[in-house]
Amino acid sequence: MKIGIIGSGNIGGTLGKHWAQAGHEVLFSSRHPEELGDIVREAGDKAKAVSVAEAFEANADAYLLATPFKAINETAEVFAGEYGNKVIIDATNPYPETDGEIAQDVRDDNRNASEYTALKFSTAFTAKAFNTIHAKDLKERAFDDSNPMAVPFAAQDAKSREVTDKLIRDIGFIPIYVGDLGSTKAMEVDEKVYGVSTDQQELRSMLNIS
Ligand SMILES: NC(=O)c1ccc[n+]([C@@H]2O[C@H](COP(=O)([O-])OP(=O)(O)OC[C@H]3O[C@@H](n4cnc5c(N)ncnc54)[C@H](OP(=O)(O)O)[C@@H]3O)[C@@H](O)[C@H]2O)c1
Repeated sequence: MKIGIIGSGNIGGTLGKHWAQAGHEVLFSSRHPEELGDIVREAGDKAKAVSVAEAFEANADAYLLATPFKAINETAEVFAGEYGNKVIIDATNPYPETDGEIAQDVRDDNRNASEYTALKFSTAFTAKAFNTIHAKDLKERAFDDSNPMAVPFAAQDAKSREVTDKLIRDIGFIPIYVGDLGSTKAMEVDEKVYGVSTDQQELRSMLNIS
């Protein structure tokens, strides 16, 4: 698959390198793509650094959103309608302390944060994944065949579900589907499985999923 990384920091940089290791073509982006040389070198031949607009123009199969939450509106404007029908995997979390008013509004709203993203990227197929995992676990627990860690995810439709399931599995985690974007409450900041590092049996039990 061709994967666009929007925000190549702790989460985006690490995931992009894992996906490159799994054989995917990865486009790392940020507002400063010229600063992504080290990540691209570590990711290998199939990776390159581009601007956010170039990442969307490249017509990737899936995009990972891994910027601060406050960048969602701006990123969605770059995405606009013209790059529709893409799978967007949203790993962001709203933190009022650093993201400001928009994060507080989303937290106070009846909608889940994932639904906010889906609303902004209205022409895409949105999934929520990797927002619950600590950066350290993401880095150190990938490709761990002996004790694989479970990663919960939600998806808006069949296509985003299939792609996200595969991209979690490809880097050695066990995907646990929690439902559509209306079902992500347990994955939100400080909720039941937020920051939880465990195997599939325990995660299923915490989420009451058989
Ligand atoms: N750290 C964790 O343990 C963790 C775990 C799960 C989920 N998350 C969530 O994942 C997201 C990213 O967290 P992180 O720890 O990876 O943050 P980070 O290390 O600060 O990386 C954020 C990246 O986003 C880029 N960026 C910032 N504003 C942007 C914009 N307007 N447009 C495009 N790119 C932009 C930054 O690069 P430039 O400044 O060069 O643009 C940077 O590469 C957050 O929403 C966070 O809540 C974090």
